[in-house]
Amino acid sequence: MSYTLNTTNDYHVHKLSTLGWELTVCNALYPGNSPCRIVLKSKASFGEHLFNFLGRLIPLTNINNLLEVGGGMGYLMKDFLTLAPNLQATMLDISPFLLQKQKETLAGLSVNFREMDFLKISASDLHAFDMAILNENLGDFPTLVFQQTSPEHNDPDAIRYLNKIADYEEEYSLEFTPTENINIGAMEVVEKLCGAAIPYIYLSEHSCESSLKNPYYPQHNFAASGMPEKISLQGHAEFTIKFSHLVTIARAFRYKVFRGQYIDILPMGMNDKVQAALRSTTPLNDKQEIIQHFFYDLYKYEYLVLIRDSKKKG
Ligand SMILES: C[S@@+](CC[C@H](N)C(=O)[O-])C[C@H]1O[C@@H](n2cnc3c(N)ncnc32)[C@H](O)[C@@H]1O
Repeated sequence: MSYTLNTTNDYHVHKLSTLGWELTVCNALYPGNSPCRIVLKSKASFGEHLFNFLGRLIPLTNINNLLEVGGGMGYLMKDFLTLAPNLQATMLDISPFLLQKQKETLAGLSVNFREMDFLKISASDLHAFDMAILNENLGDFPTLVFQQTSPEHNDPDAIRYLNKIADYEEEYSLEFTPTENINIGAMEVVEKLCGAAIPYIYLSEHSCESSLKNPYYPQHNFAASGMPEKISLQGHAEFTIKFSHLVTIARAFRYKVFRGQYIDILPMGMNDKVQAALRSTTPLNDKQEIIQHFFYDLYKYEYLVLIRDSKKKG
């Protein structure tokens, strides 16, 4: 098998200077007048929805130290700190530009900021946290991309990750089909979080295993490809995530797993405008296009909530 390594670190550290490139669901829902809110039963932000959703699975009042990795503009954490002001929050991000944005969004709140690559954090530093949040960023971590022809490997990271394939196959009985791209970085993220015994973990990203089969709006249905797909963005590329591999790793660390699509976190309200937009095969105006795209995201994104079986660390 031949692979090249796709990474986004250089882009995030040196090139990212605008957020126009990627409209995350979290950012799309943040403005009070966001046209995406029209699709939802409750017209709240993503952070408010997520806080309420997690509160049904996790005793949030027991959380003291909360780590958010790759918090983008900081909107999710702003919502969490508004709803639970006693949280001790740490924002860790590889991007100096976005860390500065987070400082602005979270100004006046007591928050620690760390500029670093999450994959470089030590287990001892992670032990301090009761909960970790990684929203819509697993696809940014390194991916081994299948190649028909054998590339030359001089990059030590590529060699290290290539060697890890066999470790993952052996340790977690993971199977990789001969031509698939491998979310090697996302797997390392889960291994790191679970290995540090963080009691509660929330992750989300575009999935290659999600699908939509809606009998009312079949024109928007899509099937799961089952293999990480490339998403080309400005200055970098990401890959959709094979969540079943992450589930296997989390279970090996004795975590209880809750898995689902964003629609669980963001239930829809089917008003006339939403129904009209979804009935159209092609959108008739900008608003319909936004609604159709948002509808797709509600099913394309998956989340995992991982809860350590024994709440004791160590
Ligand atoms: C697509 S944005 C998601 C932002 C935010 N969580 C949201 O949902 O709007 C990806 C975020 O992950 C950060 N990131 C990417 N690679 C990272 C790494 N290796 N370590 C830490 N943060 C990283 C980026 O700088 C950015 O803040």
